[in-house]
Amino acid sequence: MTTSGARNERPCVMTIFGASGDLTRRKLIPALYNLEADGLLEEKFRVVGFGRSKLSDEDFRVSLREGVQESDDVDDFSSERWNHFAERISFVAGAYDDEDAYRALGRELSCCGEGGEGYNLYYLALPPRVSETVLQTMKSSGLVSEGCAPGRSRIMLEKPFGLDFESARRLNTILAGIFDESQVYRVDHYLGKDTIRNFLVFRFANGMFEPVWNRKYVDNIQITAAEDIGIEGRGGYYDQAGVVRDIIQNHVMQVLALVTMEPPLAGDAESVRDRKFEVFKSLSPIARGDFVFGQYEGYRSEKKVAEGSETPTFAALRLGVANWRWFGVPVYVRAGKALERKVTEVAIQFREIPLCVMSDEKVCEKIRPNVLYLRIQPDEGIRLTITVKAPGRADDVQEAVLEFKYSQASGKMPNAYERILLDCLTGVPTLFWRADSVEAAWRAVAPTLAASPQDQPAQVFQYKRGSWGPDEANALLQKDGRHWLPGLAAAPNAPDPDIPTGS
Ligand code: BG6
Repeated sequence: MTTSGARNERPCVMTIFGASGDLTRRKLIPALYNLEADGLLEEKFRVVGFGRSKLSDEDFRVSLREGVQESDDVDDFSSERWNHFAERISFVAGAYDDEDAYRALGRELSCCGEGGEGYNLYYLALPPRVSETVLQTMKSSGLVSEGCAPGRSRIMLEKPFGLDFESARRLNTILAGIFDESQVYRVDHYLGKDTIRNFLVFRFANGMFEPVWNRKYVDNIQITAAEDIGIEGRGGYYDQAGVVRDIIQNHVMQVLALVTMEPPLAGDAESVRDRKFEVFKSLSPIARGDFVFGQYEGYRSEKKVAEGSETPTFAALRLGVANWRWFGVPVYVRAGKALERKVTEVAIQFREIPLCVMSDEKVCEKIRPNVLYLRIQPDEGIRLTITVKAPGRADDVQEAVLEFKYSQASGKMPNAYERILLDCLTGVPTLFWRADSVEAAWRAVAPTLAASPQDQPAQVFQYKRGSWGPDEANALLQKDGRHWLPGLAAAPNAPDPDIPTGS
């Protein structure tokens, strides 16, 4: 609907800043290798790594080759194909504030000159503060302005984009001094997932859901982004970030926007991004009683985590979209590490029926509100719970499901980074954060971040690894007379817990 999926036709040199980091090895290069294997990269496409490690081209290639071979995203590794691809990979070592190193890099980037067709793509796989330094040095060294005319360069930036509203705004200002907004691609790999891309298709390519997609029919929306893994050696980054900066301000906000946005006027990038921006702008201010933080037991003993750290690894929030469509419909979010299982899904719970017309009260009590589950991962699919007559002589009811599973559909789901990279290479910005939206999303989550030393930080409750977070996360919904829906969060086929639902 909104991206091209076409082949990259223009010669391009992709420079990765922070190239010796994990992301390049685990995600970017395997994705590029797959695109190459599918014939989607232009023949002269090249990768230049830039980083502080003193690596030779060969050292860099060896490390990347291992990454591709180990990657779950690569189905068929072939040495021949790799060697052909690796010939076009090189490395330039330098400090991020060293103008001479950028000039040396500039000499590597000859692609723009070739027939005037090509362009340079810069990928910043770095924390926000280092990204600032890189952008400033790009400008002062003349790398961008002298290297290629505007339109001959694009830039991709990894999340988190800033650490709060102020730093995001600063980054945006620096970027605007070098690039036009149309050249800037702020990455959120969740937007490359097929299941998330399906949200727009599901909502706007089916006529039957949109009429009930509003406060008249929806009781509440629940978004779960749970991981069973801990921080996996990323203490240095995670302890500074915490769950809000790591997942909620970006991935969860995008999911929320796609579920609640108004229909776009058309499928082009700005029509879609305008609608998402409206959602971020209309989020109600989050009060202290609207969120609960948790930290898994043992987190403080992880490597590079500060002693006595109060960084939350779990959060549950109650959000509100204050517009005509959604006013009064709570959106509950829970996200975190070291939880019972990995599951990312949206549950839309519809209102209870106004009146039960079955004659037996006991049967009436069994009727539960319909729930539509949009499962992002794993077991990707869509499930709608419905009530049907239980087979048999008695007038009894039972819950049943209407279900679509991606595993039963034909076609392979591409990896998110393949999608994201290809969209940038072919110049389709729909799936990237726009400057105004990033700032609006930071503003929305600001009350959950201790903004100044005077701010009293929110209490962080400990929870057991493999649980569903602290009990206080359940209390957040119970005070509204609701509970977390089981969905995939429960054991398969678990019955709905016997807790009153709906308001
Ligand atoms: C990243 C976060 O953006 O998303 C990680 O930094 C997290 O902490 C990851 O594990 C989750 O991505 P996915 O695609 O596995 O759901």
